Amino acid sequence: MDVSLLIQKAEQTHRLTENEIVHILQDEAADAALFAAADRVRKKYVGAEVHLRALIEFTNICRNGCLYCGLRAQNSRVMRYRMTPEQILALAEKASREGYKTVVLQGGEDAYFSTDVLTPLLRQIKSLDMAITLSIGERPYEDYAAFKEAGADRYLLRIETTDRALYEKYNPGMSFDNRLRCLHDLKHLGYETGTGVLVGLPGQTLRSLAKDILFFQRLGADMIGLGPFIPNPDTPLKNAPAPQLTPALKVMALTRLLLPDINIPATTAMEPLEPDGRLKALQSGANVIMPNITEGEERKNYALYPGKAAAAPDSPNLREELDKKLRSIGRRIGTGYGGHKK
Ligand code: 5AD
Repeated sequence: MDVSLLIQKAEQTHRLTENEIVHILQDEAADAALFAAADRVRKKYVGAEVHLRALIEFTNICRNGCLYCGLRAQNSRVMRYRMTPEQILALAEKASREGYKTVVLQGGEDAYFSTDVLTPLLRQIKSLDMAITLSIGERPYEDYAAFKEAGADRYLLRIETTDRALYEKYNPGMSFDNRLRCLHDLKHLGYETGTGVLVGLPGQTLRSLAKDILFFQRLGADMIGLGPFIPNPDTPLKNAPAPQLTPALKVMALTRLLLPDINIPATTAMEPLEPDGRLKALQSGANVIMPNITEGEERKNYALYPGKAAAAPDSPNLREELDKKLRSIGRRIGTGYGGHKK
């Protein structure tokens, strides 16, 4: 199979078979052509605007034990914190004043944040006229319904890997079927639904990644966030091979080709591996950046993987600096909420 013909086909039809995706992932000679095709499709379907989402990491307490994640319950080396609803609201207000139109509330699976605690907070944030994205893991249908009713618009829940055996190995005690149930509930409730995977987990094959991309398409995902797996020294996967940026960029570029109009962030995990990794991502299919507006100690302690806090430095002029960088590559900060336009 001629890989450049396959890339052309994907650019024109937004369809590829599993075998065709594997061929593209295997080939290294056509990487530049793949990234360029994804960049053209991004430009054609979602334009030059880069939407900014203000990310608030409001709790690092988590009941789960995912083997790759620094916030796993068994990791006693991380200082745990939980912001109060007042602190979270204050950060959302700051984001609003700075011009952000979306706030992302992300946290571990922390039982303290019941619907009774979260729904009043969501209503308060909603009154700031911002889109709200939640990223707080697996919940029953009723909770997702209550959050939606209180003003949540979007939800991020990575499937992490669609390889069931690998999923159950790396997420002990969790159920792949329940994760799928959550994603289907979120779609059913009308959330703009985001999912995604880790790229480079030990044991993950190119075929498995091809299946991941086809899963995104079947689900009708509105957003896809993915990044390289970065081994964390405080986890059982500490001795995994060094992470690479290129495979993650390739999966991202293929995702843009097959789901041409969705929102795709240049994720923070792309930054520590290569200087300007996220800019490269923005030129290979991505159209969203999620600046972390969490402050101080909390920011340091939301340690999913090493280098995370330093990768996206806290700066008072973050938006200005980003705007300058974006203009240097012919892009600009988006106005408006930046939802999925189908
Ligand atoms: N490297 C990269 N990403 C990670 N995540 C968790 N641990 C790591 C790691 N070691 C990702 C997961 C999760 C998201 C919030 O962070 O995919 O869904």
